[in-house]
Order: sequence, then structure tokens, then C-alpha cells
Amino acid sequence: MNYRHSYHAGNFADVVKHALHCICLAYLRQKDKPFWVLDTHAGMGMYDLLGEQASKTGEWQQGIAKILAAEQAPAALQDYLAAVRSLNSDGQLRWYPGSPWLTAKQLRPQDQLTLCELHPVDSQLLRDNVAEFSALGSIKVMPQTNGYGAIKALLPPPLKRGMVLIDPPFEQRDEFATVVQALADGMRRWATATYVVWYPIKDPLVVGEFHQNVAAINGVDKLFATDVLVRTALDRTTLNGCGMLFINPPYGVTSQAAEVLAFLTPLLAQDRGAQWQAKWLKGE
Ligand SMILES: C[S@@+](CC[C@H](N)C(=O)[O-])C[C@H]1O[C@@H](n2cnc3c(N)ncnc32)[C@H](O)[C@@H]1O
Repeated sequence: MNYRHSYHAGNFADVVKHALHCICLAYLRQKDKPFWVLDTHAGMGMYDLLGEQASKTGEWQQGIAKILAAEQAPAALQDYLAAVRSLNSDGQLRWYPGSPWLTAKQLRPQDQLTLCELHPVDSQLLRDNVAEFSALGSIKVMPQTNGYGAIKALLPPPLKRGMVLIDPPFEQRDEFATVVQALADGMRRWATATYVVWYPIKDPLVVGEFHQNVAAINGVDKLFATDVLVRTALDRTTLNGCGMLFINPPYGVTSQAAEVLAFLTPLLAQDRGAQWQAKWLKGE
């Protein structure tokens, strides 16, 4: 395992991912009924953008730094931006929250969160970084756990509403196929959940094939995809953009996703080929 998210924290891909993640959480919170979130690839939970690793790449300068500096962000972005600002109250951008911290911040007493992280160091840091929420009593950090295995082991959960967030590093050549298999495993066990998958866009053709394979999974009737390219995909071996795939997206997320991506894409653009799309692949 070579991947460390600390090199990439707050980059354009995190902005897209976390903005849409926060919108999903806001919809889950609209009903009093409790919900459960399983974060299969949780990372460390909190990142120091001035630390050695994030400073080495400086990727956050092209990501969250641009978004915080922008004016007139749509209301749908406010939960995300408020969370980042709350960590940097002196106005200097230094701390950036990961998906576990963003979820923990939105959790109500009746809700639950389970976090899986396989890297031995990051899994310990994760535990420390969400400790401030431990009074809630409803956050479980699994000790150094394979998130794909957790899908098989923990689904279906006792709480009937919820979301599975799958955000792998895509270091392995077969990671897209592994994700398809994980979604099939999940759907067999818990067909009514919302599944949210982040994926890289290097070669758009690979993404098209991934979409088709997810659409073919038994029980997938509602499938929505959002893609952002931050530059023209001339070199198809580099990260040109990213996407989020939603099985059973909470009602309303799809229109807000379009509004948010229309705002974010020009700010994250690295050349004139930047573009976004949000579309139903199945259903609606
Ligand atoms: C893209 S990062 C996650 C970022 C995090 N979701 C966030 O938004 O803040 C991917 C993480 O998955 C971890 N990882 C890799 N393979 C895993 C697996 N099979 N199960 C659980 N975690 C894994 C890596 O160590 C890395 O921290």
C-alpha cells in the first residue's frame, strides 16, 4: 500500500467528492429516522495542508483554496464550506477534513457511522482524528480493516436507512472491477441503500465501461453519475478529472449536484477543456 491521501488532501477531486458527500448527508438528515453511513476507504479523517506531504504536491492550492476564495457559492455548498471554515477560524487555510470528519460533524444522536481504513498508520490517525466526536457514541472505527470485506460482513445493517461511501485509491489496475463486485455484493445484501462511489477519470472510455458494468448489476434501477474534467483529456494516463456515481441517490441530490458542479468546474479548471456533466444512467 503506497497510497497516502495526505499528498492529495483538498485537491480538486476532494472538493468534488466532499461537496457532493455533504449534499447527500443533508438529505439523509431531512428525516428524523436514524441513518447509518459506512465509509469503506476512510483515510485519516483530517489533513494538515501545511504539513510535509500536502506541501510536497501543493494540490490543495488548485482545489479547496480556490473554492474558499470564490464569492457567491450556492446554498447547497454551505455545509461543506462551513465545515472547512470552522477548522480554520483564523482565516488561514491549514486544516482540511476528510470524509469521516465531514460525516461525523453531520451526525445526530440517533445516527451511526462506521469507518474502515486499511493502512496501519492512517487507521490509527483516523481514530485520533475523530476522537473529538466520541461523545456521540455512535462512531465505530474498525481496526485496520479492508472496506470491501466490511461490505460483506456488515450489510445489511440494523438501521434500515443509509449510505455506503466507496472511495478507493485506484492504485490497482483492477480497482474498477473490484468496485463493481463490491457494489454487487452490497446490492445483494442491502438493496435500498444509497451507494456513492468516487472514481478517477484518466481515460473517459474506461469510465463509460465502468458505468455500464454498474448499470448491469442486479437490482440497480436508479443510477446517477456526475463527471468533472478539469482539463482536456489529451494524456489519458494522468488524472484529468473525477466522477461520483450514485445508486439510489437521495431525492433532490441530483438537481443540487448539477448546480454545485456548474459553480465548481470553472473554479477548478486547469485549461479550457474543463467541463462537467450530471446524468441519469438508469431510472428517473
Ligand atoms: C482516497 S483515500 C480516502 C479518502 C477519504 N475517503 C476522504 O474522503 O477523506 C483512500 C484510502 O483507502 C485506503 N485503502 C486502500 N485500500 C483499502 C481497502 N481495501 N480497505 C480500506 N481502506 C483502503 C488507503 O489507505 C487510503 O487512505
